[in-house]
Amino acid sequence: MTIGTIIRKFESLPSTNDTARELIRAGAAHGTVIVADEQTRGRGTKGRSWHSPPGRGLYASFILRWDDPEEFEAPFSLLPLAAGLAAFEAVRGSTGVEARLKWPNDLVRDRKKLGGILTEAVFRAGGPGWAVVGIGINVNQEEEDFPGELKTSATSIRLVTGRPADSEALLVSLCRTLDCWYNSLIQGGRERIIRSYEERMPFLPGTRVRVATAGGEKAGVFRGLTPEGRLRFEAAGGPGSVSLEEILGLDWE
Ligand code: BTN
Repeated sequence: MTIGTIIRKFESLPSTNDTARELIRAGAAHGTVIVADEQTRGRGTKGRSWHSPPGRGLYASFILRWDDPEEFEAPFSLLPLAAGLAAFEAVRGSTGVEARLKWPNDLVRDRKKLGGILTEAVFRAGGPGWAVVGIGINVNQEEEDFPGELKTSATSIRLVTGRPADSEALLVSLCRTLDCWYNSLIQGGRERIIRSYEERMPFLPGTRVRVATAGGEKAGVFRGLTPEGRLRFEAAGGPGSVSLEEILGLDWE
């Protein structure tokens, strides 16, 4: 089933990702989308929260399921990158805003956060599997809608264009682009995902970056992404790479 064939809309939910998980347990089909006008406990990556005021952002979770384990041969770590590409294209296609993809989960514009992706998955070894891709996009926030430090670190489509944007059109576009990139992922398009993602990043190979992990911070030169979607860099101590589970912070010159 194409992503977006079934869209379930809610006025308010704690988190669309949590509802997606419940619906998976209840047998929801591949491609089902859960959207809420507001989230009261919206979640970000690394246990952070995702500010989700009513009527301002797009808060959507996409249920992906596969019956045959061989259907999903690509490394699971490429799924957030495929979702990022989908978000990039949907934003550009439906609003004209050209964002950038800050590896591994962020959509940014002028270094400010425009959107984020929270991918959660459980596999049943040797059997069917599922994943939830949660996408949050700041659509119609004005500066005063962002609390605290988000006032300076976040932006919205409306703040970029100076006019209100249509969340509904963005969602329709997102269903289409995610369907394309998901199919590309499961049909062996790994190389295309990596190359396309690199092209959409806010900095080029050769740029100086600072990479923070639980093990500390390292400065180095960005060298591109590995086939598994790890960030490669060259530091004083030699070449290194970091996975999307390990990364805690990424900055560039
Ligand atoms: C991040 O950048 O930290 C990821 C943010 C993901 C937010 C979306 S909004 C829809 C879905 N439901 C959630 O609780 N989180 C994701």
